[in-house]
Amino acid sequence: MKLHRLCLAVLAAAALPAAAQTPAAPATTPNISACTGCHLIPGYRAAFPQVYHVPKIGGQEEKYLENALQAYKKGERNNATMQGIARGMDDAEIKALAAYFAKLGK
Ligand code: HEC
Repeated sequence: MKLHRLCLAVLAAAALPAAAQTPAAPATTPNISACTGCHLIPGYRAAFPQVYHVPKIGGQEEKYLENALQAYKKGERNNATMQGIARGMDDAEIKALAAYFAKLGK
């Protein structure tokens, strides 16, 4: 029985996302892990739904990031993935994310 429990614990640990490598986000910042899978991978490429270049957002100007997210939200920038993500965020969340990523990579 003891061995069985150990196995479960190991499985649970293995199932944890790789988020441990990501710098800690402030408590007010929403959904960082929803971005890092695409934006913080080496080479900045995503493989789904096709292989495409993902821009580096860490360390960019806060205002630039905020404007970009607002543009996706309003449909002024045309990328289905980012539009879907930005539409799910309110202005405060966009600001918080922009501030967080602006500080990354500096
Ligand atoms: C499924 C992959 C994926 C996820 C998840 C994702 N992005 Fe993106 N993001 C992209 C791609 C691809 C682009 C480039 C789109 C284009 O060409 O306009 C992009 C563009 C951006 C840009 C514009 C960058 C620039 O240089 O103009 C910002 C800002 C951004 N994403 C922020 C975020 C934030 C914040 C999140 C999390 C809430 C997020 N993204 C989640 C794939 C993703």
